[in-house]
Amino acid sequence: MKRTLGVCYYPEHWPETQWAEDAARMAGLGLTWVRIGEFAWSRMEPEPGRFDWDWLDRAIDTLGRAGLKVVLGTPTATPPRWMLDKHPDMLAVDEQGRTRGFGSRRHYCFSHRGYRGECAAIVTRMAERYGKNPYVAVWQTDNEYACHNTVLSYSDAALHAFRDWLAQKYQSPQALNRAWGNVFWSMEYASFNDIGLPNLTVTEANPAHVMDFRRFASDEVAAFNRVQTDILRKHSVAPIAHNYMGRVTDFDHFATGADLDIASWDAYPIGFLSDRSEASPEHKRRFLRQGDPDFQAFHHDLYRAVGRGRWWIMEQQPGPVNWAPYNPDPLPGMARLWAWEAFAHGAEAVCYFRWRQAPFAQETMHAGLLRPDSAAAPAFHEAGQVAGELASMPDVDAGRADVALVFDYASAWAWETQPQGRDFDYFRLVFSQYRALRRLGLNVDILPPDVADLSGYKLVLAPGVATLSDALLGALASHKGAALLGPRTNAKTVDFSTPVPLPPNLPGMDAVVMRVESLPPDAPVPLVQGGAFTGWREKLEGGAEVVEMTEDGFPAVLRAGGLHYLAGWADDTALDRILSGLCAAQGIGVQSMPVGLRTRATATHRYWFNYNPEAVQVEGVTIPAAGVHWRAI
Ligand code: GAL
Repeated sequence: MKRTLGVCYYPEHWPETQWAEDAARMAGLGLTWVRIGEFAWSRMEPEPGRFDWDWLDRAIDTLGRAGLKVVLGTPTATPPRWMLDKHPDMLAVDEQGRTRGFGSRRHYCFSHRGYRGECAAIVTRMAERYGKNPYVAVWQTDNEYACHNTVLSYSDAALHAFRDWLAQKYQSPQALNRAWGNVFWSMEYASFNDIGLPNLTVTEANPAHVMDFRRFASDEVAAFNRVQTDILRKHSVAPIAHNYMGRVTDFDHFATGADLDIASWDAYPIGFLSDRSEASPEHKRRFLRQGDPDFQAFHHDLYRAVGRGRWWIMEQQPGPVNWAPYNPDPLPGMARLWAWEAFAHGAEAVCYFRWRQAPFAQETMHAGLLRPDSAAAPAFHEAGQVAGELASMPDVDAGRADVALVFDYASAWAWETQPQGRDFDYFRLVFSQYRALRRLGLNVDILPPDVADLSGYKLVLAPGVATLSDALLGALASHKGAALLGPRTNAKTVDFSTPVPLPPNLPGMDAVVMRVESLPPDAPVPLVQGGAFTGWREKLEGGAEVVEMTEDGFPAVLRAGGLHYLAGWADDTALDRILSGLCAAQGIGVQSMPVGLRTRATATHRYWFNYNPEAVQVEGVTIPAAGVHWRAI
């Protein structure tokens, strides 16, 4: 399959007389895809039950005739105002019990069955009308599930659906009481109808209650999405995608992804560095106009896993965005670099967001490939350059990694529910280990938590997985390579109790966590060989071989065969040493990367990405600031 480029377009925002020219310009630029439709419900169904498809027919026709392939989005992220008259209780409710208002988007509650019915109705109409349209080549369901903090809703609809979910899971209130430990503080329930949502409690709610609510809410996203995929598949053979986001763990993307053909995500590197990174001020200054050198790559690898190999960028930042605390202009070259980096990680397509900058409403300050006056903005030319370069490059190919990293959404909920230390954040923990692998120049495959086969991987990392699945435990027991687990791996039962035998309870490893402690960032626990544990450390006892010690005399790394346990949150110095050692022992070739330079190999090419604001040298080649270099392997 050829790698391709595309753009997001909103025909309903522009006079129809402009469409043909826009389409011709897109095709002329070398774009293959145009994504449309995902917010246009008020134009598709202006009044309840009165549909108007004529304009969309013409838009799809105009784009298709210009040679573009259409990604058609279902409009369910933006229910129109009349929906509230029909279903006044469909709005999501926040944790404080406040009903979310109309006037932006994503105001619906995933659990509202009436709203699901409305979604099913409009998706059915769309699927019937466009399911066999020759130009509609991919579907997108909804838009960015979870965006604007919308997975958890504390509405009546959610309450009733949660009770049903609990009744199905536990069958009797007694079983639920046992699983949650409700004898503690007299929280026992006599009926499922007595159970509330875990908000507005006096002090923290029972963590088992919270965890079940998180699992329920995640299941609701998957169920909501499945309503649409079931309908689309009845009428169309085109693959179905959803556009996920960066650093969003509120629902299990693997579960939702199981009903989709393609995982895609929306990459806004500079916005993300400004609004969701804990990096140091120096780091943020250095990469101000480029974005974090590892953040995009992590998500490329994650969504490759969620898409079971098939993944896209559905929205690529083209210039300054409007929603981060600060919105700098990208360095010249970054719109090209970001696209090439996605392709090097196996993306099939990269679509820029958006074609023309909107002159009205919320996103007037968000750049597009074109300015509001239709003149080309800088990323227009960069997209054209990438389109030209793609012509001579091989087909989609992610290559194969020696190293794998397990990512588990439920663990993000677990450690949010019970951080036991203000800074303990699952994403940050996993990302710190991912970064360390990238500093060693390694390709990384991300794996789901129920992976049953690790063969082919020489090294597997699984930090902070709250409950190891039977599948993964079995795979680890027979794994021929090395594995590094911990901290906090296998520390909870599925019911969120403390397991006995005590954690980590790993196959063949005689080691028990007898004490954990969380620490402020300025109280590191130094390791004898250099570096430290920061924020979190565990004291272990048992007969397992001790590979490294803390300066205060506790095991820092333990080993039983290839299985290793890391007894704390290792800083960069410690991680670099520990991971280099494991790679050396496994015969994995590493190359220490200079700051801001990253590399990835596919089966045919090795690529380098210079995220620095100045040139760097690699293999005798000078890569300019924001430059990309590749050579055949
Ligand atoms: C995404 C969203 C788009 C647009 C964009 C702006 O989160 O899917 O519709 O709002 O952000 O950066």
